[in-house]
Amino acid sequence: MTIKPLVAGNWKMNGLRSTLAEFTDMSMRFSDQLANAVDLMICPPAPLIYSMRCIGGQIMVGAQDCHANETGAHTGDVAAEMLVDSGARAIIVGHSERRADHGEENGTVRAKAEAANRAGAVAIVCVGETREERESGDAVTVVMSQLEGSLSTETTAENTIIAYEPVWAIGTGLTPTVADVSEMHTAIRGFLSQRFAGEGENMRLLYGGSVKPGNAAELMAVENVNGALVGGASLKCADFMEIAETYLQ
Ligand code: PGA
Repeated sequence: MTIKPLVAGNWKMNGLRSTLAEFTDMSMRFSDQLANAVDLMICPPAPLIYSMRCIGGQIMVGAQDCHANETGAHTGDVAAEMLVDSGARAIIVGHSERRADHGEENGTVRAKAEAANRAGAVAIVCVGETREERESGDAVTVVMSQLEGSLSTETTAENTIIAYEPVWAIGTGLTPTVADVSEMHTAIRGFLSQRFAGEGENMRLLYGGSVKPGNAAELMAVENVNGALVGGASLKCADFMEIAETYLQ
């Protein structure tokens, strides 16, 4: 089975209703030909999800985080079901900014992934090593243990996407070499195939971390890279669409 690639934009804490014009521009540039080649998604801040969904178009809408519980006394938190109710089809969990800023560990990430799946959303589970871990030669071991701890036993190719995002490459303009991306994605595929058999073989593996128009083609061409999770470059229609259009070539 061939895996249809996905290019997902993570707007992080950026965007107002006035920014939705950028999303409309993306939708208009998303031709049928491109839609045959690649799926597109934007994960805006939660307050914009519903408006984006209402604008419609073929670009899917996702969310950036959810609480592990369905309801309750958790002031300021948002449940997966609420995000799905607003129009989100997928929810990013375990992004390194959440792991660092909110102390989220693998167990929490796994509970959030399970919550996303219970609500009917795809969990985009993020993993990635720090600079120190890469320099000390531990990158693959670290990522394997994040996968081990962050994925539920019910993980399938349909309900989960893995995003490998080296922490040191996020927002820095730095990227790993093609050989390093290839080594990591091969290791992730091996882990998933062993743990989830055919489901693991068919699961989408995204690369994230300073993806931009200038480097997208070489990164997306790496075996076992089935798309990208794009931060900064997803805020501009032209850059985001140029990254997606690498799949037309
Ligand atoms: P970046 O962010 O593309 O700005 O490096 C990627 C991410 O954090 O998902």
